[in-house]
Amino acid sequence: MTDNNALIDEIRAILRNRSRKAYVRSFGCQLNVSDGEKIKGLLKKMGYEYTENENETDLIFHNTCSVRENAEDRVFGIVGSMKHLKELNPKLVIGISGCMTAQAHIPDKIRKSYPQVDFVLGTSAIHSLPELLLNALRGQKFSADTEEYAGFSEGVEQVRESSFKASVPIMFGCNNFCTYCIVPYVRGRERSRRAEDIIREVRELAEQGYKEIMLLGQNVNSYGKDLEGGIDFPQLLRRLNEIDGDFVIRFMSSHPKDASRELLDAIFECKRVAKHLHLPVQSGSNEILKKMNRRYTAEEYLEIVDYLRRRDPDFSLTTDIIVGFPNESDEDFEATLELIKRVKFDNIYSFIYSKRTGTRAAEMEDTISDETKSLRMRRLLETQREISTEHYKRFMGRKMRVLAEGESKRSKGFLTGKSNEFIIAEFSGDSSLIGSFVDIEVTETKNWAVIGKIIEK
Ligand code: 5AD
Ligand code: SF4
Repeated sequence: MTDNNALIDEIRAILRNRSRKAYVRSFGCQLNVSDGEKIKGLLKKMGYEYTENENETDLIFHNTCSVRENAEDRVFGIVGSMKHLKELNPKLVIGISGCMTAQAHIPDKIRKSYPQVDFVLGTSAIHSLPELLLNALRGQKFSADTEEYAGFSEGVEQVRESSFKASVPIMFGCNNFCTYCIVPYVRGRERSRRAEDIIREVRELAEQGYKEIMLLGQNVNSYGKDLEGGIDFPQLLRRLNEIDGDFVIRFMSSHPKDASRELLDAIFECKRVAKHLHLPVQSGSNEILKKMNRRYTAEEYLEIVDYLRRRDPDFSLTTDIIVGFPNESDEDFEATLELIKRVKFDNIYSFIYSKRTGTRAAEMEDTISDETKSLRMRRLLETQREISTEHYKRFMGRKMRVLAEGESKRSKGFLTGKSNEFIIAEFSGDSSLIGSFVDIEVTETKNWAVIGKIIEK
């Protein structure tokens, strides 16, 4: 690794009398958005200003995702269409980062087919950004760093997207190798950040007035397992819960096989931790769960749900579901419908299975037609709509604490936000409330949100 400060000074010198607007776009999960915030932080240090308009920029950064094929196709489409921007402005620098770049064939494909791209930056190579950018500013045709480093960009200042919601990665990578998933190949093995660094970052965010802190990791439940003498995730939650301030702690994602009693108890016992759990189930069929290498059964998943609901009958759960895993039978799919009816999720994030080269599922035989997969997806969504319609009624007439996040796009004069239970809430209120907590009384429930009015204090 080279001395970044010297490189950054050199870049500042080159840019001194130039226009230096940068556009950074992140695709995919929140971990990627968080990486994008670090990239913006580094660019700011180099003297770049940030713009939302990619037509008037000097640097374009696409921070990519590869979890499903359509995300990749989109990026290639966008990069292809940037050729003309480069023709209009030959000084324009174009960089690609994120999970797509970590697949062995991608950097080569970009170099050969998309000569407008100046450099490719791997998922754990953010610290190499000054070096690659300097290469591009000096006119080098193409450079790339996609190596996997053990360390991570501790101490890189972030330019955060929001002034009241912050995400804090607590670990990177994944060891689980679910057979459909590319993440362990593109993000490498699990590496946890030191608890002291996380606690310090959360304390600073709380002092700055952040209201929602989202702890991120591919599987936060295995936080700390790779650290000698470190603390585990429930202990981390308890430590963060002690920090002064007015904020809510969320976390994502949890693997059901690692959702211990200690974790579930910590959710109830820590007043700052939101009373909601995102627990991806993926399928309700034990056969499919086995083929997915998820290492739990539907019954074991339901035991977790039952424990939560014994402690709080209204406890809010959301999940991820994959439809159309190779050779998923009608019975397998029906088992998924049964499971979602039994659990009564408040929301599901559902995906049609996408074959990812290099994963074990990509080798599995699949005779299910695309039409059947789409039909199943539609049935899943319809079923969930019915569940949400019924299940949201439990909030009717209730008081809810909501973080006001912005103006509603659906109803004029209304604000939108998320309740502690991660339910979308819409209510009439002044835009000066955005970024603060309000108490509402629920006056109506829909299948996607609750509608309410602010309770005056
Ligand atoms: N196809 C479809 N969905 C996928 N996911 C991960 N990999 C794939 C794939 N190959 C979904 C899972 C995961 C979520 C983040 O993305 O449901 O929980
Ligand atoms: Fe992918 Fe499974 Fe790891 Fe989640 S736990 S990132 S689905 S391999």
